[in-house]
Amino acid sequence: MAVVSSAHSTIFSKTSLFHHINGFKRFSFCLPFSSSAVASLSSKKKWRQPVASSMLELGGIKIAKDDVVRDDPTNNVPDTIFSKLGLQLHRRNNHPLGILKNGIYEYFDTNFPNMFHKFDDLCPVVSVKQNFDDVLVPADHVSRSYNDTYYVDSQTVLRCHTSAHQAELLRRGHTHFLVTGDVYRRDSIDSTHYPVFHQMEGVRVFTPDNWEASGLDPTSYAAEDLKKSLEGLARHLFGAVEMRWIDAYFPFTNPSYELEIYFQGKWMEVLGCGVMEQEILKSNGRSNSVAWALGLGLERLAMVLFDIPDIRLFWSTDERFTSQFSEGQMGVKFKPFSKYPPCYKDMSFWINDSFTENNLCEVIRGIAGDLVEEVSLIDNFTNKKGMTSHCYRIAYRSMERSLTDEEINDLQWQVREQVQNKLNVVLR
Ligand code: DAH
Repeated sequence: MAVVSSAHSTIFSKTSLFHHINGFKRFSFCLPFSSSAVASLSSKKKWRQPVASSMLELGGIKIAKDDVVRDDPTNNVPDTIFSKLGLQLHRRNNHPLGILKNGIYEYFDTNFPNMFHKFDDLCPVVSVKQNFDDVLVPADHVSRSYNDTYYVDSQTVLRCHTSAHQAELLRRGHTHFLVTGDVYRRDSIDSTHYPVFHQMEGVRVFTPDNWEASGLDPTSYAAEDLKKSLEGLARHLFGAVEMRWIDAYFPFTNPSYELEIYFQGKWMEVLGCGVMEQEILKSNGRSNSVAWALGLGLERLAMVLFDIPDIRLFWSTDERFTSQFSEGQMGVKFKPFSKYPPCYKDMSFWINDSFTENNLCEVIRGIAGDLVEEVSLIDNFTNKKGMTSHCYRIAYRSMERSLTDEEINDLQWQVREQVQNKLNVVLR
C-alpha cells in the first residue's frame, strides 16, 4: 500500500527542513551558492553527451534544447531533465495527475462558479526574480542553491514551485486563480522523490467590501475563508476524514499553515497555505487587499488516492499502468501488474568538501534513469586523519520487467566510473 510520508513536502517550510535532516537522507543543507557546489557541477559538464537540438513550445514560448542545457558553469540542467520538459502529465485527462487536477477544478467550479481562472500551461523556465525574489524567499535560503535548484543560467531557473507565478498573475490583474505545472528540484532518490513533479497553486484576493461586513480584521477574514475552503477541498478529495491545522512557516505567507488529514492510519500533510504577505500584494498593484494562497503537490496526493506505490510510475508509458486510469475516475486503486525483484549494489568512497547527495543522485539518474529505485546512505564514518567515507546502497528495480545481472553490472560499473570522475571522490 502506498504510504506517502514525504513525497515532496514543501521545501519552504521550516518543519520540512527538519524532516529533511531526519535519517540524514536529505542533505539539502549545502551552503546556498556554495562555490564548491558550482565547481563540481561545472566540472561535470565534460561528460555530457553531445546533444541533438530539438525545439519545444512551452506556454507559447519556443525553447531549444541548447537554451536550457548548456556547457557552462552557471547551468546545471542535465539531458534527463530536459527530456521531461513539455511532457505536462498534468494536462492528460487519463493520467492520475490530470484526473486529480480536474477533481480539484471540479471542487472550485462547484463551490465558486466561474470564479477561479485556471492556468496549466505557463512556461516552467522562469527568472530567479519570479521564482524567489517576487515571493520573498530570503537571499540565503537553501532552496536558492545550485544543489537544490536547476539553473539555466545565473538569472534563470526551472521553477521549483508554482508560487513562481503568483506575482506576475497579480500584476496582470488576476485575483482568483489556480496554477498547475511541472516543477523541478534536485533531490535524492527514493519512491517518493523525483526531480520533476507537479504542483497546484491557488490564490484568492479580497477587497475591503469583503471583510468590512464580516466584523473581522482582514487577515482573520482571509484565514477563515482559507481554512473553510481548503477543508472543503480535502473532504471533496478524501471523504469525511479527520483534519488538523499545523502552524507553519513560508516566506510568502503570514500566518502560514499546513493542512493534515488522518488517512490510512497516519497524519498526512495535504498542502501548505497562508495569508499572502502584504508586500507581495503591494508590489503587484493590490495595496488595498488581502489574499490567501495555497500550494499542493499533486504526486503526493495522487499516490495515496490511487494507491500508486512509486513516484516513477507516473512517468511510465507501460500500458499496464496507463490503461488503469481514465478521465473523471478519481481514486481508482492501482493494481500492481507485477513486482520485479530489486537488485542492490553498494559503493563506498572517501568524500570531499564539495560532495553532496543530490550531485551523486544526479550522476546515478543520468546513467540508470528510472531503473534506480533508491539511493541510501548505509554507512558514514570519519577516520583519524579526518577523511570521511560514505557507503551508499543503490537499489535497481524496473517497474516493467526483470533486469538481467549483466545489465545491472554494466550500469553499476558506469556509475562507479562516473561518480569517481565527476564528483572527484576516491572509491574504496
Ligand atoms: N511553494 C511552496 C512549496 O513548494 C508551497 C506553498 C506553501 C505555496 C504555502 C503557497 C503557500 O502558495 O501559501 O514548498
